Amino acid sequence: MPDPDPAALAFLQRRRSRPARTLGLPVPDRTALRPLLDMALRCPDHGKLEPWRLVVLERAALARVAGLVADCGARLGKTEAEIAKQRAQFADAHLAVAVIFAPKPSDKVPGIEQGHSAACVAYGLLNAALAAGWGANWLSGWASHDAAFARDALGLADHERITGFIHIGTESATPPERPRPDTDALTTWMDA
Ligand SMILES: Cc1cc2nc3c(=O)[nH]c(=O)nc-3n(C[C@H](O)[C@H](O)[C@H](O)COP(=O)(O)O)c2cc1C
Repeated sequence: MPDPDPAALAFLQRRRSRPARTLGLPVPDRTALRPLLDMALRCPDHGKLEPWRLVVLERAALARVAGLVADCGARLGKTEAEIAKQRAQFADAHLAVAVIFAPKPSDKVPGIEQGHSAACVAYGLLNAALAAGWGANWLSGWASHDAAFARDALGLADHERITGFIHIGTESATPPERPRPDTDALTTWMDA
């Protein structure tokens, strides 16, 4: 018979992100954040390739990254409003962890599977932060998909990509629940 963990099940039933713009101080310090990073990296990983790494962006780093957005946006033809919104993602944040997809050469594990593993890291960190009582939100943003921005902002190598930024902080307002998917409509049961 299964041996359920009621607390874990209750967390998974009610978990939800908190919008990054509602997250403020305090944020976890390095001592508090470190175990959450351990939990995030405890994730499914075909072939034990560890095709990911983390970049913790503290306040000064976020300010520096925010300062790179305008040039990137101009190069990509973004509007002033798009640039302002993307800049604010970093300028208004106090802590964000960039999850980096760092694929490894492998004959056995295709790149797409390695990318799935990196997404697991991001989701694991999101859930670990939420379970620890912090507000957290997984954001990407158009700049995150630009290789030059990723290199200049986070020091990414050419083969690396940003899976996402996990913003973590203290929520200032509890958001209403959002509509959730219709599991029955999305699930096919096959018994033959
Ligand atoms: C890969 C990825 C990138 C995302 N990027 C953004 C983003 O840039 N901006 C945004 O408003 N939401 C973004 N989201 C969605 C937010 O994380 C959203 O808050 C989340 O879907 C809420 O889900 P939850 O309440 O079940 O945690 C992204 C989600 C994923 C999976």
